[in-house]
Amino acid sequence: MGNISFRFPDRTAIVTGAAHGIGRELAAAFADSGATTFLLDRDGEAVERSAAEVGGHALALDVSDTTAVEAAIDAVRERTGRIDVLVNNAGILRDGMLWKLTDEDWDAVLAVHLSASFRTIRACAPTFRAQRSGRVINVTSYSGLHGNLGQANYAAAKAGVIGLTKTAAKELARFGVTVNAISPNAETRMVAAIPEDRRAEIAATIPLGRFAAPREMAAAVQFLASDEASYITGAVLPVDGGVAI
Ligand SMILES: NC(=O)c1ccc[n+]([C@@H]2O[C@H](COP(=O)([O-])OP(=O)(O)OC[C@H]3O[C@@H](n4cnc5c(N)ncnc54)[C@H](O)[C@@H]3O)[C@@H](O)[C@H]2O)c1
Repeated sequence: MGNISFRFPDRTAIVTGAAHGIGRELAAAFADSGATTFLLDRDGEAVERSAAEVGGHALALDVSDTTAVEAAIDAVRERTGRIDVLVNNAGILRDGMLWKLTDEDWDAVLAVHLSASFRTIRACAPTFRAQRSGRVINVTSYSGLHGNLGQANYAAAKAGVIGLTKTAAKELARFGVTVNAISPNAETRMVAAIPEDRRAEIAATIPLGRFAAPREMAAAVQFLASDEASYITGAVLPVDGGVAI
């Protein structure tokens, strides 16, 4: 799919979980659109490779590590003097019926999806406030909107991301900063990890009849990140082939 016409020259974009999947494609789209793009991921080798391929800068870190997140955001700020777009996309699954979930399964999923999103926004907030501009796009999920069997940890984390999105939108609005979320549905490693029969069942419930290519998430994210989306904040935009209808 070709790049759409959003342009981000002289802008700085940060995408977490950008070594693979949706995050990689979002980083590629921002780099293609002229943004100085930082790819954050804990998979050091893959993030270096993806950054080189898309023309961005790699920062290898675990987003659930507060100190590492703050150092990374400081490094971006020092390098470019600004932060325009923050995409909180990093994610993991530790699925299991809740009576089988361990504390570790619970804590790890909450840490990567919810706590890390809070911490990156908190770390960027002083820059957003000083600039009086900024765009945050968080990545939530169908599970966060509706719940899902075997995903109590993930659904709670993604529902939390929606609460964080709405509250951050209210708190940062006075500084001209918007905070929105997308709820994606794309064919990535995360989807490949779902057992084949279950994956086919899920595909059958998608009104558009297929999972998206990860790059199909980029237009929605770039729209929300653009100047044109100046009056949209606190929204959760499904980019999911109609699943959430
Ligand atoms: N694929 C889908 O259909 C779908 C549906 C709903 C929501 N999502 C969400 O979209 C986002 C991207 O998912 P994806 O499908 O591209 O998955 P993916 O597994 O392909 O990519 C996730 C990326 O996050 C990175 N990551 C994981 N833990 C990290 C950590 N602690 N620190 C830094 N990086 C970390 C991984 O290394 C990987 O590069 C996730 O938040 C996921 O929950 C995906």
